[in-house]
Amino acid sequence: MLKKILKWTGIIIGCLVLIAIVFYVIASVSVNSRANKVYEVKLQTLSIPNDSASYEMGRHTATIRGCLECHGNNLAGKVFLSDTTPIGVLYAANLTSGKGGINYTDEDWVRALRHGLNKENKSVWFMPSQHTTAQLSNQELGALICFLKKQPPVDNVQPQHELKPLGTILTFFNKFPLFTAEAIDHNATYADQVKVEVSPAYGKYLAISCAGCHGEEFKGGPANAPGEPPFPDLTSTGNPGKWTSDQFVATLRTGTTPEGKLLSDFMPWKVFGKASTDEELQAIYLYLHNHK
Ligand code: HEC
Ligand code: HEC
Repeated sequence: MLKKILKWTGIIIGCLVLIAIVFYVIASVSVNSRANKVYEVKLQTLSIPNDSASYEMGRHTATIRGCLECHGNNLAGKVFLSDTTPIGVLYAANLTSGKGGINYTDEDWVRALRHGLNKENKSVWFMPSQHTTAQLSNQELGALICFLKKQPPVDNVQPQHELKPLGTILTFFNKFPLFTAEAIDHNATYADQVKVEVSPAYGKYLAISCAGCHGEEFKGGPANAPGEPPFPDLTSTGNPGKWTSDQFVATLRTGTTPEGKLLSDFMPWKVFGKASTDEELQAIYLYLHNHK
């Protein structure tokens, strides 16, 4: 009797292990083929300016769109997922022309920032082009590239990106926005210039940067990991819906809400709130406040 039970337990465990292996093979084949998909996109020709006003505009964009936050103040790259996480290994690239840097042509910049594609026309990993640069006006994208190209070279060689089993499974179930190029409309066209004014339209243009964390509709969501705060609803139905424009601006500048809550560093107000102009923050408020 006992022998029979043991035999059947063994068979069941064996089957479960086999199913798990087959599932994992299917998941990794699928994720690998998405990682290796070669996109064909028509790159726009963008003339990159070289004057100091454009450089300053580009510096501001690089600050409020998070480039300096993720790639480091000298843009020489930074760890994003360290080797010790079970998800994978990922470093925000060294954007300079130093050792280990990307050495981009103007076309390469447009490909990465508009389309989320690297030099091989494969999707970049986790680099949030869809929420930072894909929709920028031609003028602002040109200014940003002007700023990026003028950064002094810094030597910093970093490991290649790599996905571990947990990262593969999360990506398979789309729990993880790994492949940027999948989230971008590659046939979109762009405004030559956007009007800088306190209007919902300009607020929408700026608020795309908040969508990566607060959700595509800015309705917030659960925390990314245990011990981290959830993402609050930023629209008229959330807490900020009760604030005035001045209170919204003050919250992003000081990191303290009208209710007296101190925002943690998971909300990048120290970089974003401090660097943004009053006009920019008021425009974002206007857009979010009227967003149901
Ligand atoms: C949330 C963090 C984050 C932000 C914000 C961010 N990046 Fe990245 N970036 C990354 C990561 C991670 C990679 C590495 C991608 C890879 O290995 O495929 C990367 C890669 C890149 C690459 C190289 C692509 C390649 O492999 O050829 C460029 C260019 C780039 N980023 C530019 C920018 C610019 C410009 C900004 C600001 C508008 C920016 N990034 C904002 C995380 C970020
Ligand atoms: C990297 C992720 C991230 C990005 C990008 C981000 N936020 Fe947040 N934000 C958070 C988190 C997390 C909290 C909650 C912080 C806490 O509870 O300590 C938060 C809180 C807030 C709050 C306070 C809301 C409340 O009810 O108390 C406001 C306002 C806010 N964010 C506005 C913005 C705006 C505007 C943008 C875009 C310009 C933005 N955030 C971009 C992660 C982010």
